[in-house]
Amino acid sequence: MTGQFITFEGIDGSGKTTISQEVYIRLQKKNRDIILTREPTDTWRGSMIAKAIEENCNPLTIALTFMADRSEHVIQIRKWLEKKSVVLCDRYMDSTFAYQTAQLSPYMKNPLEWLQTIHHLFYLEPDITFLFIIEPQKALQRIKRKRSTFEKKDFLERVQKNYVALAKNDKRFIILDASLSIEELTKKCIDKISHIQ
Ligand code: TMP
Repeated sequence: MTGQFITFEGIDGSGKTTISQEVYIRLQKKNRDIILTREPTDTWRGSMIAKAIEENCNPLTIALTFMADRSEHVIQIRKWLEKKSVVLCDRYMDSTFAYQTAQLSPYMKNPLEWLQTIHHLFYLEPDITFLFIIEPQKALQRIKRKRSTFEKKDFLERVQKNYVALAKNDKRFIILDASLSIEELTKKCIDKISHIQ
């Protein structure tokens, strides 16, 4: 048996970070060998992404920095999985497919196809992807810190549409109503993860 690779996706303010942290704490209590990681990563590559966004770099540069970060992160994730760990990842490739497709659509004909082709070079498919769906206006109201350039209603609407389209074609997605309580959402995630073990 190898480990399990579980990803948490959704627009900014959807609550996926809170739930991934709760799931991590609960699974640790069950004595599972569990890792919680995130993208952008907490490395110089993640800092490079933050800088690219802050300096308003063009969407192509931003897309390439997210993918550079991931191509290294995947090497580490594979090592954890080989050790049979359960790896929880707060954002992963579907973030690129949803956000960068929305950003790149004025620049090229089929951004999703282009992004997916690049991912073939370092592809690692999650066992489960939890997708947290929320009304973008409500999601924005939940964000208390200074908003990033991505955190605008129209843009997040497009991003969420992209997420839903990805989920339609792929059984690994589990769609969750992000307006449920933390307890309900955490329980749903734990139940699903236990189911595949
Ligand atoms: P975070 O708020 O979850 O840390 O993510 C940072 C921002 O980066 C968030 O607005 C989503 C965005 N993002 C992308 O646009 N593409 C990606 O591939 C990833 C991982 C994040």
